[in-house]
Amino acid sequence: MELRRKTPATTETRTPYTCIQFWNNVIGLRHWDNMLTIERSVRYASTFPQVRLNPKAKKLIHPMIRVNHAGELAADRIYAGQMAILGKTSVGPTIQHMWDQEKKHREKFEELIKKYRVRPSFFVPLWEVTAFAMGAVTSLMGQRAAMACTVAVETVIVEHYNEQLRVLQSLEKTEGIEEIMEVIKTFRDEEQEHHDTGIENEAERAPFYDMLSFLIRSACKVGITTAVAL
Ligand SMILES: [Fe+2]
Ligand SMILES: [Fe+2]
Repeated sequence: MELRRKTPATTETRTPYTCIQFWNNVIGLRHWDNMLTIERSVRYASTFPQVRLNPKAKKLIHPMIRVNHAGELAADRIYAGQMAILGKTSVGPTIQHMWDQEKKHREKFEELIKKYRVRPSFFVPLWEVTAFAMGAVTSLMGQRAAMACTVAVETVIVEHYNEQLRVLQSLEKTEGIEEIMEVIKTFRDEEQEHHDTGIENEAERAPFYDMLSFLIRSACKVGITTAVAL
């Protein structure tokens, strides 16, 4: 009996139409090289060491990494926006210190998104632009308003990380889950410090504090909900 030959595996390499390319085409952006590199390494399983989770853990962990990556990237941009306006003022060094920590948070989640092969949020370019604008506009309103922005953002992030930790505690402790819990605990503590720094720098005395805080917290919650799924 003649055995049927299996169809030979194709060696063709197709270039996927990535979300970054989509945004490039839609709004003419051309500088998302870093995100494009992340997307490619996620899609093509590069030489980066990878962790494969069981299906139940994957269903929970992937959206967590996606939203945290988007959030830390947005935090990096918020502080960049604040530094652009207030970098040379008396609060410059304080903002710079928080920004330096946010850059490390962003780098860590860029590492994890590759390691766990998580698709980045579709709206990453939008978060980058919006977050920078949020940091810059509140800074133009004054140092206290910039600190009010920090307090509002960090309040939501601390709550968000605490919620994730509660979920992770209910899972079986595999190597991957323990690593993510450690990262989230460390970052949660640093976000809490940023929140406290904002309060110490008179955030609550900013003009229209309650309204400003409400608007920024609402925007962050919308961002979180969107980035979890998309
Ligand atoms: Fe952060
Ligand atoms: Fe922070």
